[in-house]
Amino acid sequence: MSQFYCREDELRKLNKRYVGDKFECIVIYGRRRVGKTALINEFCKDKPTIFFSALNTTGRENLEALSKSIMSFERPDMESAPEFRSYDAALDELTALSKEKRIVFVIDEYEKKYLFSSLDKQ
Ligand SMILES: Nc1ncnc2c1ncn2[C@@H]1O[C@H](COP(=O)(O)OP(=O)(O)OP(=O)(O)O)[C@@H](O)[C@H]1O
Ligand SMILES: [Mg+2]
Repeated sequence: MSQFYCREDELRKLNKRYVGDKFECIVIYGRRRVGKTALINEFCKDKPTIFFSALNTTGRENLEALSKSIMSFERPDMESAPEFRSYDAALDELTALSKEKRIVFVIDEYEKKYLFSSLDKQ
């Protein structure tokens, strides 16, 4: 996006939560094309961020994509990265990373049906 306009209030609120000293979980919701992703990108642009956009596909492929998001943050030099065996394992890794330093973990398109779903069905 070339230019980001307004949303000062939203950015202020997000930043206030970011600088606090505890874990924060923020849900951003709204109609389509209202600017949720743009707001997230603007908020994250100068922060260590793992950005994962859920896919309209199986739980297995979402886990693969989530693994890639985590690995490209941890090991940007690695061309291909191992996949986590489960969502629990991926989330455990995020927990470990967040203990080392302050990070933002974004799940965009959270409503996708098979995100965090069973890996052996579908
Ligand atoms: N604050 C802003 N300043 C400038 N352009 C913006 C702003 N917010 C959104 N846009 C533009 O409006 C369009 C829609 O925004 P965006 O994709 O962020 O919406 P969304 O709420 O994430 O949509 P969806 O629900 O489809 O995911 C994009 O082209 C984006 O670049
Ligand atoms: Mg969006």
